Amino acid sequence: SAPATVTPTGAPTGADETAVGQQGPDLTTSLGTRLRDTDHSLKAGSRGPLLLQDHHLREKITHFDHERIPERVVHARGAGAHGEFVAYGNAAGVTCADFLAEGVRTPVFVRFSTVLGSRGSADTVRDTRGFATKFYTREGVFDLVGNNMPVFFIQDGIKFPDIIHAGKPHPDREIPQAQSAHDTFWDFVSLHTEAQHHTMWNMSDRGIPRSFRMMEGFGVHTFRLQDADGSTTLAKLHWKPRLGVHSLTWEEAQLAGGVDPDFHRRDLYDAIESGACPEWELGLQVFPDTEEQTFEGIDLLDPTKMVPEELAPVQPVGRMTLTGTPTNFFAEVEQVAFHVGNLVPGIDVTDDPLMQVRLFSYVDTQLTRLGGPNFNQLPINRSHAPVNDMLRDGFGQQAVHGGIAPYRPNSLDGGCPFVPPGSGGTGAETPQVTPGEGWFVETPREVPASRKVRAAPASFADHFTQARLFWLSMTSVEQDHIVAAYTFELGKCYESAIRERQLMALGAIDGSLAERVAEGLGMPVPEPVEQPAADVAPSPALRQVGEEWPV
Ligand code: HEM
Repeated sequence: SAPATVTPTGAPTGADETAVGQQGPDLTTSLGTRLRDTDHSLKAGSRGPLLLQDHHLREKITHFDHERIPERVVHARGAGAHGEFVAYGNAAGVTCADFLAEGVRTPVFVRFSTVLGSRGSADTVRDTRGFATKFYTREGVFDLVGNNMPVFFIQDGIKFPDIIHAGKPHPDREIPQAQSAHDTFWDFVSLHTEAQHHTMWNMSDRGIPRSFRMMEGFGVHTFRLQDADGSTTLAKLHWKPRLGVHSLTWEEAQLAGGVDPDFHRRDLYDAIESGACPEWELGLQVFPDTEEQTFEGIDLLDPTKMVPEELAPVQPVGRMTLTGTPTNFFAEVEQVAFHVGNLVPGIDVTDDPLMQVRLFSYVDTQLTRLGGPNFNQLPINRSHAPVNDMLRDGFGQQAVHGGIAPYRPNSLDGGCPFVPPGSGGTGAETPQVTPGEGWFVETPREVPASRKVRAAPASFADHFTQARLFWLSMTSVEQDHIVAAYTFELGKCYESAIRERQLMALGAIDGSLAERVAEGLGMPVPEPVEQPAADVAPSPALRQVGEEWPV
């Protein structure tokens, strides 16, 4: 008879899913066979050669050989944290998104990043910072994939590969890491003057944050919100840090980066672990959803423009607190997959041509980076709302789907709530549902009959006014820092023609700025460019302020 120790067949039960590969006290193979020795390979005799039959050796080495996945094509260097978002409830008038309803508490995961450096690069470089938030709402996952600056380098996503090729290290010498101090970067931004506004933000103190905890976050694009009645509003989304906005000086950044290249991620994790949990308020700037999609003459579909807070105040709608550090960096910070198209009822995209390209790009890159189409099943990406999709099979599939009819409508697997009476079960008629009832419904908007066009709208033509607004809004100390940054970074350019062209672009922003940078570079001041005199007023809200937490 069989020994008493034989147990029924079947998978072990009650195992903590997050502990896959870490159950029980003993070392095992990946399939649970207990191993007594992992220090010596199996040999023919004590001095070898090694035997091919050593399954444990081959499994260990083979798995190790495949431990790395590609780093993100941009934003490769990042740090993440878990937390919670609590809504104030005052956004209900403009959006029916459930996670913005009063008192609703939503788990979040945030990933902060630099843009250009590789995964192992330093935290303290001059660069834009990513600020991406995943809200695990009761209505599905909403991703707010933003940056710490309110504008972007380009107006049309077709130019994204170009600006990134220009900003990444030179392809011949792989220099420099995560710095804007090189020829291709300045070649691009001086030739594409739409990039001048974002570049000015980079050259300002905002380009070297003191801490992730002290950064603002911006959705950049304009979103279209929908309330329970179906009325729509345009909105920009902002994060305001409780600790105010603070930066490192250039000298501090060099020292901090030299002593501790992990300065920002260490600061984030140390703060959370010591109980100094960082907080941000989510705020909305709201605009009427007019046919022109402009506000005070600013084209809301142009991502190189922001709307000054003097014209549209940021109205706080909820608070986020980060309370947890990752348990496993790879499983959380590396495997997290954000996507601008991850939306919930009440929030929709607009026709911003940068945003539209992003809708295509993220899932596309993640198919490669995360090895196939099932990355939303990874624990960090999983919805906290029930999922019932018809996505089946594929690389990395973890689910064991039941039923035989993954199509809708069907008459085999319990039918489908979408079969309208009298439709004959063809699904031809879409039932009337509203976002207020928790369904995602694209916001209605007429697309005018038009011919195909490969050109920018005329309203995207002004590249300098807002850069000038930013410059004029700085204190004299902040202006000194901007001049020093342009001088240093442009000073690393080998091609004097590129420096000259960038000086001309600075001249179009502000004559005194161009003059001061030219002086620092020891170059002739470019011919003055005619500027509209008082077309912009300085914006106090753009200043670097360690303001009190607005309650
Ligand atoms: C990451 C593309 C514009 C913020 C990425 C990634 C790609 C990408 C391919 C890597 C994603 C991954 O591997 O998971 C693009 C394209 C853009 C664009 C094609 C323009 C057409 C922007 C803009 C912002 C932004 C305007 C800010 C508003 C981010 C952030 C990340 C990211 C924060 C890092 C997400 C993370 O932490 O995992 N982008 N991007 N991107 N992008 Fe963009």
